[in-house]
Amino acid sequence: MSDFISRTQSELAEDETVLIAKAEQAIINAYAPYSSFLVGAAVLLNNGVIVTGTNQENAAYPSGMCAERVVLYTASSQYPGEIILKLVVVAKKMGAPHLSPATCCGSCRQVMVEFEQRQENPFKVVMLYSSNEWIIAPSAVSLLPFSFDKSSLGVQR
Ligand code: THU
Repeated sequence: MSDFISRTQSELAEDETVLIAKAEQAIINAYAPYSSFLVGAAVLLNNGVIVTGTNQENAAYPSGMCAERVVLYTASSQYPGEIILKLVVVAKKMGAPHLSPATCCGSCRQVMVEFEQRQENPFKVVMLYSSNEWIIAPSAVSLLPFSFDKSSLGVQR
């Protein structure tokens, strides 16, 4: 656990506080009629732009998409080649006044690792682990050790 930083809300860096606020504001656009679990994500790009995304569910459940993957695919589509510095994810149960702890699912971790490898730079991942404990992971790969990647396929680029 030594690579992971634990912070209370007041101990967070300013850019993290801004990203958390943006992700929380984005939650209004989450579409989660099946789980009632609203998720917002925000990424800070190297050019200073913040991109947000939310979870988008579907009546055919597996067709839905987590907020983290929505934000990463959006960033890559709108700002191709721009390096991601930080990713924040927040969640709220529908109607709740406060954030719920939520950490990235395994599928999102897999996608995050590929983004990190593509940009040849790690990015920090900020998640609410318990009521006032934010976890800052130093990289996506730290959240998915021994992950499957293109090297197993013999793919060079
Ligand atoms: N969800 C996310 O958007 N991100 C996560 O890291 C965990 C789960 C979404 C998927 C689904 O819409 C809802 O939360 C309940 O699983």
